[in-house]
Amino acid sequence: MIQKSHECDVLIIGAGGAGLRAAIVAVEHDPGLKVGIVSKVYPMRSHTVSAEGGAAAVIKDFDSFDLHAYDTISGGDWLCDQDAVEVFVSEAPREMIRLEHWGCPWSREESGKVAVRPFGGMKNKRTWYAADKTGFHLLHTLFQTTLKYDGIVRFDEWFVTSLLVDAGRCQGAVVLEMATGKIEAIRAKAVVICTGGGGKVFPYTTNAKIKTGDGMSLAYRAGVPLKDMEFVQYHPTGLPFTGILITEAARAEGGFLLNKDGYRYLQDYDLGKPEPVPVLKSMELGPRDRLSQAFMKEMEKGRTLNGNYGPYVHLDIRHLGKEIINSRLPFVRELCMKYENLDPVEDMIPVRPVVHYMMGGIHTDIEGATPLPGLFAAGECACVSINGANRLGSNSLTELLVFGARAGKSAAQYAKTRNGFSTGLKSIYGDEWNRLQKLYIKKKNGKIRIAEIRDRLHNAMEKGAGIYRSEQSLFESQKIIENLQELSHEIRISDYSSVFNTEIIDALELSCLLDIAESVIQSALCRKESRGSHQRIDFPNRDDRNYLNHSLAYKRPENFPEIRYHPVKITRWPPGERIYGR
Ligand code: FUM
Repeated sequence: MIQKSHECDVLIIGAGGAGLRAAIVAVEHDPGLKVGIVSKVYPMRSHTVSAEGGAAAVIKDFDSFDLHAYDTISGGDWLCDQDAVEVFVSEAPREMIRLEHWGCPWSREESGKVAVRPFGGMKNKRTWYAADKTGFHLLHTLFQTTLKYDGIVRFDEWFVTSLLVDAGRCQGAVVLEMATGKIEAIRAKAVVICTGGGGKVFPYTTNAKIKTGDGMSLAYRAGVPLKDMEFVQYHPTGLPFTGILITEAARAEGGFLLNKDGYRYLQDYDLGKPEPVPVLKSMELGPRDRLSQAFMKEMEKGRTLNGNYGPYVHLDIRHLGKEIINSRLPFVRELCMKYENLDPVEDMIPVRPVVHYMMGGIHTDIEGATPLPGLFAAGECACVSINGANRLGSNSLTELLVFGARAGKSAAQYAKTRNGFSTGLKSIYGDEWNRLQKLYIKKKNGKIRIAEIRDRLHNAMEKGAGIYRSEQSLFESQKIIENLQELSHEIRISDYSSVFNTEIIDALELSCLLDIAESVIQSALCRKESRGSHQRIDFPNRDDRNYLNHSLAYKRPENFPEIRYHPVKITRWPPGERIYGR
């Protein structure tokens, strides 16, 4: 039945920053290894490309690892594992310099030294940037570096449908070649999932269409828990309709957030006092959770504006002038002109909080290993965890370098300890082949369109599990999602072709989105406190006595997941108060 079986030592799923970094490390660890990268999009279309503002790493004399660690931990409302954060901050600068040596064009100061800018929740300037196209340059640098290695083979535009798990370990994946519709197996001694997050479970998001939580869902179905899924980050400044990111760098360079009266409303929210230009620690450069919550409060007070796509406020960068906008924020200008038909040199930009990032993800240790032998994960799909309850802007690009590298090395080391594959893989592949055939064949008479389920899912998530939640809102969403899960077996598919059948891909992605939704809802229901991005109006305070723990969501058949807890690792920074105002 196997049409074709490929074999590698290490298989990386996902070709964004974490995946490419992992591949490079694996092949450098042992040039004799065959490292496969499978991705549903061509690598340069991975979502890393859309990152804008920068990547944090200590490089200046006025900064230190401890300061970076403290900002990260307090920004994460003390839910970060501090041993992971310590590793992260200390390995970050080396990764950034290595990238420079590979050709990443970091923006410079007049002196020629690497330039850094302030970023939200960071109390020091430490964000390296390449204008406001950092993700593009970072991804390009990694991609071109992978091309040097003969040991790296790519499977571009192949969609992974399941992991091959047998004899208690992960041994590869079943994949759908999108160009032909062929279903094949890639056997691998170690697998690293680097597929990014699942922001597409919400309606308004900076996330690209591809971010449907596939990798998280693969691991979850294979019995690996998803950690801290209740923590979903809203970025305070997305464009109202498209959700396109207007980078925090716009505020770092001096942009203001104004309500409908033209007032810098953040001064009312314990985020600092107004300054002609925002200073570190305060106001527009507060952490994202607090800024998004302040937006909601402004909305409740009737002080936001109303547009075709809901409430919004203004981001004003006009006072920065054309020269700064063109040199440091050229992409912001381009995006505004293309998608809002306005020029931020002359006009204010309408913005609203939109889902940007999932702090939660596949449960891994500090080496990127999951509890399933042979399976590793890194990047947004994983939860190490360095982001806790609220990630600080510009930590994630660095995270995918540091932990992509760690996971790639661990996977390479593990692969070298394995000889061959178990015999059960063939029948596992056969079962998956049959399941996928049913998707093609049995859905002609389905009664509901994929888009209909997706719409209802979006509404349920935004309404029930948005910036503020309550038991009631979460229960209501849970009921809807339960119903959508049943309906998802009744979807109608009208495209039976095998060449680039995007409807089948949409169907597969939808099932991943539903997995993500159930894990977010259930984890949020069980966490009866407010922390970082998880704000329960029925439990408004942080409760360290009961919830200084990571949630772990374990998939259960025909049911919402079981939630267990795992202690947060505290090393040197005991839980304290988050202070941003001055
Ligand atoms: O606003 C931004 O440029 C986003 C950066 C990040 O999420 O790290």
